[in-house]
Amino acid sequence: MKYSPIGIFDSGYGGLTVLREIVKTLPGYDYLYLGDNARSPYGPRDFDTIYHYTLECVQYLLGQGCPLVILACNTASAKALRNIQQLALPQIAPGRRVLGVIRPTAEVIGQFSQTNKVGVLGTVGTVRSESYLLEIGKFFPELEVFQQACPMWVPLVENGELEGEGVAFFVKKYLHELLERAAGIDTLLLACTHYPLLQPIIQRYLPEHINIIAQGGIVAESLKDYLHRHPEIDIKCSKNGQRTFHTTGSPEDFDGHAAVFYGQKIASVHVNCAKTGTILQHLED
Ligand code: DGL
Repeated sequence: MKYSPIGIFDSGYGGLTVLREIVKTLPGYDYLYLGDNARSPYGPRDFDTIYHYTLECVQYLLGQGCPLVILACNTASAKALRNIQQLALPQIAPGRRVLGVIRPTAEVIGQFSQTNKVGVLGTVGTVRSESYLLEIGKFFPELEVFQQACPMWVPLVENGELEGEGVAFFVKKYLHELLERAAGIDTLLLACTHYPLLQPIIQRYLPEHINIIAQGGIVAESLKDYLHRHPEIDIKCSKNGQRTFHTTGSPEDFDGHAAVFYGQKIASVHVNCAKTGTILQHLED
């Protein structure tokens, strides 16, 4: 049986919120999820480190036979995707593809706002990269975008802290900082794949007229459209309905937390992506 799954990568658990939606939209495909839990969070790290870690993980997924890899991580999409697409991939595996989550989100976000003012919550890395400002500007130049970094949220989510006073403190803190500057927003984009796990508590402290938008469904629809437009990639993706989960961290921790993100029990395997090194390895297409 041919096994060439679609690779889904995130620094940790967050990409599972995207995979969950992709699986609902495209259930027939095989998926290999990789969480770099051992080195998460990526958000506060510098450009070179994020590129280096993401490239190692992408090389690992390509080495496992993935014809297509989705960076289901905004931070990696903001800081590593372009170099991977333009510099690394042509050398490693020119016939494969690596896609991110920022562009598909930017393509539709303006459709959700009546006031033409949206808030974008992300990691420090995503916010500093200004990728959302740039990409949204291409599709909705009239849209006013207010960014807010939420550096404490990913560590809380990675540790399974989704409720309680400590979480509430940091949810209120960043929402307050944003809303002080962003009067008039009616749409709030969760531009980090970890944040949908905090959606119930974010909702609690957000004025009712502001709609929260998570990326999972948007990315899933965009992938469906991409595969439709690129039959040469689609044909390389195996379709046996298999889901496989790899983590650079502890499988026990992964399985315990991941069920919450994915909505189902998971049995993951520990892998070491750093083994692939930073040297570009040529792979057959
Ligand atoms: N889930 C990642 C994102 O969408 C961030 C996680 C991290 O900081 O490692 O940006």
